[in-house]
Amino acid sequence: MAIVSVPTQPYAGQQPGTSGLRKKVTVFQQPDYLENFVQSLFDCLPNTAGQTLVLGGDGRFHNRVAVQTILRMAAAHGFGRVLVGQRGILSTPAVSCVIRKHHAYGGIVLSASHNPGGPDGDFGIKYNVGNGGPAPEKLTEAVFARTKEIKSYRISDQGAPDFDRPGTHHLEALLVEVIDPVADYAALMRETFDFDAIARLFRSGFRVRCDAMNAVGGPYAKAILEGELGAPAGTVVNAEPLEDFGHLHPDPNPVNAEDLIAHMSAADAPDFGCATDGDADRNMIVGRNFPVAPSDSLALLAAHATVVPRYAKGLAGIARSMPTSTAADRVAKALGIACYETPTGWKFFGNLLDAGRATLCGEESYGTGSDHVREKDGLWAILFWLNVLAVRGGSVESLVRAHWATYGRNYYSRHDYEAVDSAGASTLMAELRAQLPRLAGQSLNGMPVAQADDFAYTDPVDGSTSSKQGVRVIFADGSRIVFRLSGTGTEGATLRVYLEKYEADPARQDVPTQVALAPLIDAARALARIEQHTGRTEPSVVT
Ligand code: G1P
Ligand code: ZN
Repeated sequence: MAIVSVPTQPYAGQQPGTSGLRKKVTVFQQPDYLENFVQSLFDCLPNTAGQTLVLGGDGRFHNRVAVQTILRMAAAHGFGRVLVGQRGILSTPAVSCVIRKHHAYGGIVLSASHNPGGPDGDFGIKYNVGNGGPAPEKLTEAVFARTKEIKSYRISDQGAPDFDRPGTHHLEALLVEVIDPVADYAALMRETFDFDAIARLFRSGFRVRCDAMNAVGGPYAKAILEGELGAPAGTVVNAEPLEDFGHLHPDPNPVNAEDLIAHMSAADAPDFGCATDGDADRNMIVGRNFPVAPSDSLALLAAHATVVPRYAKGLAGIARSMPTSTAADRVAKALGIACYETPTGWKFFGNLLDAGRATLCGEESYGTGSDHVREKDGLWAILFWLNVLAVRGGSVESLVRAHWATYGRNYYSRHDYEAVDSAGASTLMAELRAQLPRLAGQSLNGMPVAQADDFAYTDPVDGSTSSKQGVRVIFADGSRIVFRLSGTGTEGATLRVYLEKYEADPARQDVPTQVALAPLIDAARALARIEQHTGRTEPSVVT
């Protein structure tokens, strides 16, 4: 038994500004690559001696190898205890929940979220701090700097203990506790929602199809929906986390979850369809023949939040990422509470949640959450919808239509141009930014521009600032076009174009989304010269 110091090359692995490291599996399989990141992370964490670390991942290919390595390195670093999910499994929201419940020092999540998995797919690692939320930028930047300079890492030469069965083990002086990945999370859901009402809904014959996309959401959804709430067996499909996600792309949107969309469009469609992503922090909600836009989902849950026991006393505020539609702002206004607009990425919600300024938060990218943890939470959103439906009655579609009738409809779509040439994408953004000063007051496609800027954010809690968070073109009627480059893609660059148009008149709320948005789509293409810069005439994904 010994702790060995292994000489290593520095790897500049992590992109600055991202919350973790996400790369092809083949990159992670390079000798010392993961070790480099983990050592750099540990080097940047103060006072870890004797502390508790939470560890788990979404079960994708390389998850097991990474768990073993990290356990051996945690032992070499002097942590006191690691809580590791059985079989190496913990969803992202479950890691957040376990960190908070056990007052852990922090936690490591092994996931590349919704990116494809398997030997040719992606792998990832991210660190969450003691409040259960993603590491703040100053920590991720320090880790990034450290990865470029370290010369060795420390690891136990003992093998990692078995983590396939519950139990406790010693590795050097480290206590390794193998925990049930679902138990703490399920307890939190039981405290949050009206489980009796949801169970009654199931007993009344309400039918749900929950597609876990062969990813980590499966065990959670099965235990809670089928186990605790009495939904019939088979309600959760693709429920076993597979190393390659069974070749599904576990990114729940109508394009990747086409099987769910097909079931929800069939003559005998269930009442409610839902899906979660690779690490179960994202959610998609679908009624019969009726996909719900994530921006609408956030607004609707906010409007009905008081039916949920945890939110019975009302919301302190709502937060949404800048590109997310302004539907939630209208609900916040009606409720007389604040609506915060933050840069893209869940980490920007942390301070608002910690300070009690916001209770619910969400992003257009199928992420919804609240102050119950510090991550977005797929199954939580699904249970929230079921709780609302159980109390309010009606269907998904009738609830959404009633919402639009009250608040107006924010037609919304995101157009992604994936894996385009990075240089072309940067030029496109630079040209857009150069045009900003003269856009306000001009008309695009006959639509007068009220405001055009590059979104900058000052955190109202700690005063930290983030600039260049996306180019916004806001029209006089409140319609918007937003352009930004993805920070999570692993191939070339991905241009995201976000389109939003407000319609107050219920008689005009039933136009197909892409038709309602057509003038904005044309304006966006012309303004950013998308074809010239990317060579693409059409987006690769429209959601
Ligand atoms: C994407 C989403 C963003 C989300 C992030 C992590 O980031 O757009 O809302 O927070 O994944 O799940 P992007 O690739 O756009 O930088
Ligand atoms: Zn995810």
